[in-house]
Amino acid sequence: MSTPPPTRVRLCADGPMLLSGDVVVVTEDGREVTAERRTVAVCRCGRSARAPWCDGSHKLLTRPADRSPRPGRDGTST
Ligand code: FES
Repeated sequence: MSTPPPTRVRLCADGPMLLSGDVVVVTEDGREVTAERRTVAVCRCGRSARAPWCDGSHKLLTRPADRSPRPGRDGTST
């Protein structure tokens, strides 16, 4: 019997947390939500109408003007 691959978590800049693998998300009120897809996006901005899942509402948020740009994967700023 092989060991299942580890659950992967990827944090998206100003966006959701992507979970890949077998996960059960426990909401703030204790409700357990089983992911129905291999990769799911969990809202981190608090604006999703489909919480705990991301519905893209984070894209409507604007970055504060004084915020420094984040470095991209290749080290360049975004
Ligand atoms: S992170 Fe996408 S709606 Fe909140």
